[in-house]
Amino acid sequence: MSDPKTIGVGLIGMGVVGEGVVQLLQERSDHFKSARGVDLVLKRVAVRDISKPRDVELPTGVLTDDANVVIEDPEVRIVIENMGGLEPAGEFCLRALQAGKDLVTANKALLAEQGGDLFDAAARHNADIAYEASVCGGIPIIRSLTDGLVANRIESMYGILNGTTNYILTKMTDKGGEFDSILRQAQDLGFAEADPTMDIDGTDAAQKLSLLSRIAFHTALPPNLILKEGISHISPLDIDFAKELGYTIKLLAIAKSKAGRIEARVHPSLVPSGALLANIKDEFNAVEIVGSAVGPQVLYGRGAGQLPTASAVVSDLVDLAERRLTRNGPSRSPLSVLPPSAPIPPEEIETSFYCRFTVYDRPGVLAHIARIFSEVGISIATVIQQGRSETEEGTVPLIITTHKAKEASMRSAVDEINNLDVITRKPQIIRIEQL
Ligand SMILES: NC(=O)c1ccc[n+]([C@@H]2O[C@H](COP(=O)([O-])OP(=O)(O)OC[C@H]3O[C@@H](n4cnc5c(N)ncnc54)[C@H](OP(=O)(O)O)[C@@H]3O)[C@@H](O)[C@H]2O)c1
Repeated sequence: MSDPKTIGVGLIGMGVVGEGVVQLLQERSDHFKSARGVDLVLKRVAVRDISKPRDVELPTGVLTDDANVVIEDPEVRIVIENMGGLEPAGEFCLRALQAGKDLVTANKALLAEQGGDLFDAAARHNADIAYEASVCGGIPIIRSLTDGLVANRIESMYGILNGTTNYILTKMTDKGGEFDSILRQAQDLGFAEADPTMDIDGTDAAQKLSLLSRIAFHTALPPNLILKEGISHISPLDIDFAKELGYTIKLLAIAKSKAGRIEARVHPSLVPSGALLANIKDEFNAVEIVGSAVGPQVLYGRGAGQLPTASAVVSDLVDLAERRLTRNGPSRSPLSVLPPSAPIPPEEIETSFYCRFTVYDRPGVLAHIARIFSEVGISIATVIQQGRSETEEGTVPLIITTHKAKEASMRSAVDEINNLDVITRKPQIIRIEQL
C-alpha cells in the first residue's frame, strides 16, 4: 500500500465516549495507516473545563474550551461531536457542516429532533454525516441497513434498543422485585441515568426507531408519530402471569412496512419466552431485521458504554476518512430529501393483548367482561382466574389474553369495562408479539 494520507480530526466533547474515542485512535492508529491507508491526526479537542483530570493524554495545545476553535481550524477535516444534548451541540454540528467538514455523531436525540436540518446542510455543503453510534452503541446496525442489506426491501424491524429498560425488565424477570427498587439498583450500578425518564418512558427507543426507520424505509418518521409507552407500570404480577402463559416482557421497538405505510411503535410486549429477543438480557441490545431477500437477521451486542460506543464512532471516522481520500465526496444517501412517511394511525394497529383486571371476587364477573369484548369483536384466547380472594378488599386478578384485535376496539372495550362496578383498579393492558 502507498503511504498513508493524513486527515485532520477535531473532537467536541471528551467525556465517557470522547475519551474512548481518543483511546482507540491512539491504540489503533498504526492499523488504520497500514490496513486502511489513513493517518488520523487529532488536531483539536474541545471540552467544557480544561482543568478537569482526564484518563487520556493529548499533545500540548490540542485541548481547548472553545468548540469554535475545532470547527474553524482549517486542518480539521472531520468533526466528531461527542458532547450530547440538543444545544449548543446542534449549532456546532450545523456550523461544522456549513464549513464543509464531515461530521461523526453519537447523538441520537439531536438527529431525531434536528436531523432534517443537519442532513440538508450536509447535502448543500458537500459534507457527510455518520452516526453509527447513535443507535445501539457498538452494534453496526446502521451500516448493516445502508450497506450490507442494500439489496433488500426492509419488511420489518423488531428491536430491544434501550439497555436501561432491558436491564430493569431482566432483573424483574430473573430475580423478582418491584420496578422502583430495581431502577434504584440500576442507577447505583451505573446502568441507569440519574434522570432516567427518557429511557423509562420509551422516548430514547422511539428516537432510535425514528432514525432506523429513515434508513430502512427511506421515509421521514419523526419520533412524535411513533406510538409510545414506557415500562414504569409493569408490575411483578404481570411478569409472573406472563411467565405462566409462556411469555417474557420486553420493551420492543417495532417498525413494519405495510403497503406503502409504516407501522411504528415502542411499548412493553409479551414475547414468547423461547424467542431470541426474549433472551436478550441485561443492558444488551438486539435488532431483528427482516429483509426481502435475506429473510430474518439478528444483530446483538452492547448498546452503550465507553468502548462499544467509541468503537462505532471510530469506525465511522475511518470510513469517512477513506471516502474523502479516495473519492473526495460524500457518498451516503441524503436523508434530508426523504418524503414524509404515512404512518398507520395507532387505532388501526392490530395485536393480541394481555389484560389484567382487578375485580371483586363475585360470580358473573368474567361473563360481564366477555360480553363487552364480544360486542367490540374481540375474541378471548385464554383466561386465568385465581381461586378465592385473599385480600382484605376481596379482589382477585383476572387475566385474559385475546386474539388479534384493533387498538381502537381494545380501547373502547377497556373504557366500558372500567365502568363496571366489579372493577376496582385501572386494567393493565400489554400487547403480545408472536415473534
Ligand atoms: N455514554 C454512552 O454509553 C453513550 C452511548 C451511546 C451514545 N452516547 C451519546 O454520546 C454523546 C456523549 O455522551 P457521553 O456519555 O460521552 O457524555 P459526557 O460523558 O457527559 O461527556 C460530554 C462531554 O462534552 C463536553 N462538553 C459539554 N459542553 C461542552 C461545550 N459547550 N463545549 C465543549 N465541550 C462540551 C464535556 O466537557 P467536560 O468533560 O469538561 O465536562 C464532556 O467532555 C451523547 O450524545 C450520548 O447520547 C453515549
